[in-house]
Amino acid sequence: MRAWSRAERAKGRRIGFVPTMGSLHEGHLRLVDRARDHADRVVLSVFVNPLQFGPQEDFERYPRSLADDRRLAAEREVDCLFVPETAAMHAAEPLVRVSPGPTAETLEGAARPGHFAGVLTVVAKLFHIVEPDLAVFGRKDYQQAVLVRQMVRDLDFPVEIDVAPTVRELDGLALSSRNAFLDPDQRRAALALSRALRAVEQAWRGGESNPVVLERRGMEVLRIPGVTPEYLAIVGEAVRPVKQADARAVVVIAARVGATRLIDNVVLGEGVAGDVAVGGRA
Ligand code: PAJ
Repeated sequence: MRAWSRAERAKGRRIGFVPTMGSLHEGHLRLVDRARDHADRVVLSVFVNPLQFGPQEDFERYPRSLADDRRLAAEREVDCLFVPETAAMHAAEPLVRVSPGPTAETLEGAARPGHFAGVLTVVAKLFHIVEPDLAVFGRKDYQQAVLVRQMVRDLDFPVEIDVAPTVRELDGLALSSRNAFLDPDQRRAALALSRALRAVEQAWRGGESNPVVLERRGMEVLRIPGVTPEYLAIVGEAVRPVKQADARAVVVIAARVGATRLIDNVVLGEGVAGDVAVGGRA
């Protein structure tokens, strides 16, 4: 992989990189489009990273569809599809890991101990292997994107980070590989997440800026049969709680629908409608 990258860069080509865990959907593919807009060659990696799953989590049953992924990557004109084997990425249980620091202690990090250390460790490894000029991440995983930026800044990675808006179905559900686990009833219940984000956004547009009041409003909408809320919070820069919600504040949400854990978020000033809508569901 590195030899390919270095040969391309030696020809003066800028390399854009999109790391994924596969089971590709339009959310991933929009990142590919963005990488192409800002680079000459696009590398897409597919690697279901065991380090970022807790012992009780869904590593074993995480959806895998490499044949479809290959087809979609080819259709989107990915120049290099990088699919390392687990044994090649982690020859032994790694002893050294990236320590993600305080931003990883709340929300997703609190719900999933060790998750962000696992994410940043594999992202650091992938950056060292691919040596991209630019890497594109999705805002859908808001805390992850913030942490990747912090790692790149604090550890001087020579890579530019671009964060792309969330891609949603027309009815608001954020695209996720884990949506494949939802049966039709759960698929309907899962809309509570984006509805709760919209409810908070509307209250904020109506003049409410107290995060406690906004969070309560969101929770009312999230708490429906079939949905178990985990958190709904309004955060500012570096994923810290805010005293007053302004246009840059982000509403982050996590909930279980059946056995499936889903996350979503919205930047208040941009709104759910500011995200990208695709697909055939109305
Ligand atoms: P994965 O969940 O496969 O997501 C890969 C990238 O796609 C991430 O940057 C994620 O934010 C983005 N993405 C997923 N759904 C999206 C959507 N609906 N709209 C926009 N972007 C979306 O995130 C991971 O994999 C892993 O943690 C990884 C970074 C690859 C490290 O293992």
